[in-house]
Amino acid sequence: MTLAIEARGLRRAFGDVVAVDDVDLEVPEGEVLGLVGPDAAGKTTLIRLLTGVLERDAGTVALFGHDLDAERDPTRLLLGYMSQAFGLYEDLTVIENIRFFAAIRRVTARDRRVREQRLLGFTRLEAFTRRKAGDLSGGMKQKLGLICTLVHEPRVLFLDEPTNGVDPVSRREFWDILGELRGRVTVVVATPYMDEAERCDRVALMAGGRILALDAPDALRAEVHDPVWEVETDRPFLAAEVLGLALPGAEITLFGDLLHVVGPLEERVVSDVLAAAGQSARTARIPPTMEDAYVRLAQPATARPGEDP
Ligand SMILES: Nc1ncnc2c1ncn2[C@@H]1O[C@H](COP(=O)(O)OP(=O)(O)OP(=O)(O)O)[C@@H](O)[C@H]1O
Ligand SMILES: [Mg+2]
Repeated sequence: MTLAIEARGLRRAFGDVVAVDDVDLEVPEGEVLGLVGPDAAGKTTLIRLLTGVLERDAGTVALFGHDLDAERDPTRLLLGYMSQAFGLYEDLTVIENIRFFAAIRRVTARDRRVREQRLLGFTRLEAFTRRKAGDLSGGMKQKLGLICTLVHEPRVLFLDEPTNGVDPVSRREFWDILGELRGRVTVVVATPYMDEAERCDRVALMAGGRILALDAPDALRAEVHDPVWEVETDRPFLAAEVLGLALPGAEITLFGDLLHVVGPLEERVVSDVLAAAGQSARTARIPPTMEDAYVRLAQPATARPGEDP
């Protein structure tokens, strides 16, 4: 097995904040690895350390066996990085942006012509090549960002919340495009969306600068051993409060209008508590979702006993 990424003991602090705290990571060639975690978990900082755009306090990174420090130029060409605030030139057209990014990555005109046709084709942006990037929809901008990141044919692709703020249909299209690349490019993608995490080969759950768990989505879900009760009520916020007070041992999380109650509980307990508070509710046992796995696995990090705050 070839390792696309091998990182050891990565650490980076900003003042008192340890943004990435002693992280080891191995990503085999061809894998799509998701990074999931709350705001400030350290996802962006980890990506920036892995791409070498941010200096490390400690640790080593190798891409396909090439050390990021010792072999700066080859590793730079191996990787593509679409940052959280990826900068397209809004006053340039789609095709001009692609040509600009190809030029700074020293792609020959011949290679660039072949690749831009293919990339425009599978992102379905062919009809928009003369449009200014600033006039594209959010989803189209993200696809153009992806083309610009792929035009030098990186072997490792780092994507930092590439579909943030993009409508659900465009999000799915973006992931279909990643699906087309599957196997040919190794991908590390930070995402706030659990449905996107589900599409990854493995997912690293991050909090407080650490990787709390790293496994396939199925395996992470299997970590939730207690039953998951999905509760639908007219007043979900109130219901969450009532259940929280009555069932201190259970995890109660609000997902949109639905509540998930996770704990060693019988269904009747949940509906009885709500009925006693004068609330009618529909309760059903569901298989654990990635969100449930995340809530379950993130617990030790937020309440690590015996550790200074
Ligand atoms: N350049 C910086 N200067 C100071 N602090 C920083 C800097 N970059 C990151 N941090 C801090 O490091 C921690 C991790 O931030 P990071 O951006 O890596 O989190 P994230 O998981 O990407 O969050 P988000 O989901 O909001 O993008 C945060 O506490 C953040 O405030
Ligand atoms: Mg981030």
